[in-house]
Amino acid sequence: MGILIQHGTVINADSTTKADVLIEGKRVDAVGPSLPTENHQLIDATGLLVMPGGIDVHTHLDMPFGGTTSADDYLTGTRAAAIGGTTTVIDFALQSRGHTMREALDIWRKKAAGKACIDYALHMAVTDLGPRFENLAEMDQMVAEGITSFKLFMAYPDSLMIDDGLMFRVMQRAAALNALVCIHAENGAAIDVVVAQTLAAGHTAPHFHALSRSTLAEAEATHRAIALAEMAGATVYIVHLSNSDSLRELRAAQARGLKALAETCTQYLVLSLEEQMPGLSFDEAKYVFTPPLRRKENHAPLWAALQDGSLTVVSTDHCPFRLDQKALGKDDFTKIPNGGPGIENRLQLLWHHGVNAGRITPQQFVELTAAAPARIFGIPTKGVIAPGKDADILLWDPAAQYTISAATQAMNTDYSMFEGWQVQGNVAKVFSRGELVVDQGKFIGIPGRGRFLHRAANAGGLA
Ligand code: URP
Ligand code: ZN
Ligand code: ZN
Repeated sequence: MGILIQHGTVINADSTTKADVLIEGKRVDAVGPSLPTENHQLIDATGLLVMPGGIDVHTHLDMPFGGTTSADDYLTGTRAAAIGGTTTVIDFALQSRGHTMREALDIWRKKAAGKACIDYALHMAVTDLGPRFENLAEMDQMVAEGITSFKLFMAYPDSLMIDDGLMFRVMQRAAALNALVCIHAENGAAIDVVVAQTLAAGHTAPHFHALSRSTLAEAEATHRAIALAEMAGATVYIVHLSNSDSLRELRAAQARGLKALAETCTQYLVLSLEEQMPGLSFDEAKYVFTPPLRRKENHAPLWAALQDGSLTVVSTDHCPFRLDQKALGKDDFTKIPNGGPGIENRLQLLWHHGVNAGRITPQQFVELTAAAPARIFGIPTKGVIAPGKDADILLWDPAAQYTISAATQAMNTDYSMFEGWQVQGNVAKVFSRGELVVDQGKFIGIPGRGRFLHRAANAGGLA
């Protein structure tokens, strides 16, 4: 017996059709008008949109960071993702300095085991190649095991930051392997100077986290990363691009035909320095993440870049901390763990502020949240509703009204960055590999059912 989703409107990145969708086992079997109903479980999708499940390519689950550990583990984090309509995450395995990529991969696979509620893949964040660069060869092994994207941090000098030489070596190896290099682009050294000067002037409040990390520091690093990737012949993907100065660098590279891609995140599209961090209280620690909140004038350029395709993905950079964890920095903004919760709200916010506001079409919504992530990160079985593909399917109610609140969210934080925000458009049901896992706002699957996705290297789909 299959599952037949009837009377809905199927939206893929390149098409919108009134069609039924037949799920057989874990896969989509057929998509078409008035499919035969015999022997199938029928799901009435009248008035609903039938879209590919979301893919969030930037999450930090159960990650040691900033003197503590992110508050969602693979159980709570992927459950919240599913409730919000995301059926795949790509999380970051983090190589600690002095340790190997192998160790990091084993640690992250263990974190996910028995807990992941949806399918997941991993990027490898490289921090240390060893004194004679002997760890570089591990990249080959990682690619053989399905880890085909490597992340480098140009910020966080005390823990994660790499230098240009290491970055270039990783890019060269990635180019040889057809792998993708993901970059946190901020000039960490320059920012550290400003941070020291800011603290010396007695400015310790969360607001100064944002002021000490300028858009130019991000733009400079964006330029440098793309330039080194060009030298190495690698495809580069800039993560969490937050402002128009960085966008200018990205666009200039793309205009020259360079293999440069970038994402932005929900928070940079809808939150701002003026509104959320006016500089009045420690409560603003809720919005301490990196890159920081930018001035509102950056919103329109970011939306325009999503419209014209310069930015290709919207992710969350979900890196949640509870308020007691944020309080580690109550006397010094540099000690506030950087990151915010968002894995559950990405689709709601992008639909409401993007589609409802007329900034993007429903097809662009699917492109940004599912199709492009699948294409860029080498997951050909997902991101589209078509025969043979994984039945990761979202039934979306464009008329549903929802109020975002920490009191009702599934994420494991005691605050929401979008507290009290009303959105129109929300998840009705979610299927993950053919299994109904979310119904009426509740996760009904079995934790641990999520599978590791072994990805093939594809140079960001630009090879
Ligand atoms: O503030 C953030 N973004 N925390 C997570 C680590 C990172 O830089 O992506
Ligand atoms: Zn980052
Ligand atoms: Zn991140």
